[in-house]
Amino acid sequence: MKKAKIGVLVSGGGTNLQALIDAQNSGIITDGEIKVVISNKADAYALERAKKAGIDTEVVLKKDCVDFSEFEQKIIDTLTKYEIDIIVLAGFMSILSESFTSRYPERIINVHPSLIPSFCGKGFYGLTVHEKALEYGVKVTGATVHFVNEIPDGGKIIMQKAVEIKEGDTPEVLQKRVMEQAEWIILPQSVQKVAKDIISK
Ligand code: GAR
Repeated sequence: MKKAKIGVLVSGGGTNLQALIDAQNSGIITDGEIKVVISNKADAYALERAKKAGIDTEVVLKKDCVDFSEFEQKIIDTLTKYEIDIIVLAGFMSILSESFTSRYPERIINVHPSLIPSFCGKGFYGLTVHEKALEYGVKVTGATVHFVNEIPDGGKIIMQKAVEIKEGDTPEVLQKRVMEQAEWIILPQSVQKVAKDIISK
C-alpha cells in the first residue's frame, strides 16, 4: 500500500515526535510513514527517540551556514533526498521563511500549544505560551494543529482541542496537561488525515 512520506523537524525533547512514532506503531497513522527526523539542535533528545525507532536522522545547524537561506536550503535538500510529502514541525523552534513555506503549500503541519488565535505568533513558543495564558488568566487553553504558511501560526487550522486550566497551575504543569490531553492526540490524528488525503489524490 502506498504511504505518504513524512519528514519531522524537531529542536527539543521530541514528545510529539514520540506520539507520532507510537501512532505509527499502534495503527493510528496508517497512510504515512516517518522517513527522516531533522533537528536544528545537535543535542535534541528527539534524535535519540528517532534512532531508537530506527528512523534516519539529520542535523542541520545554523552556525554551519553562511546565512538563513543556506540553512533552509540544507533542510530542503534533505527533504528532497527522502522524497518527503509531508513536513511535520514537532517542537521545531525556528520560523521558516516565505520562500520555504511557499514551496510546500498545505504540506507543512505544525503543532502549537494554545487555541489559535490566542497566545500565538512571533515570540510565542514552548513554555512561554503557557506562561502567557496563565498571566492572562484564561480558564481554557488547548492545542492547535495547522498548516504552515508565511504568517507565523497563521495557516489553515486542521484540528483543535481544548484543555482546562486549574487553580494553582504552573506553566510546567499546564504544558504537561496540554501535551497529554491535546497535542499527543490531535497531532497524530491530523497527520493521518493529511496523509490519507494526499495518497488518495
Ligand atoms: C510542544 O508543546 C509544542 O507544541 C511546542 O513546543 C513543545 C515541543 O515539545 N511548539 C511550539 O511552541 C511551536 N510554536 P516536544 O519537543 O516534546 O514535542
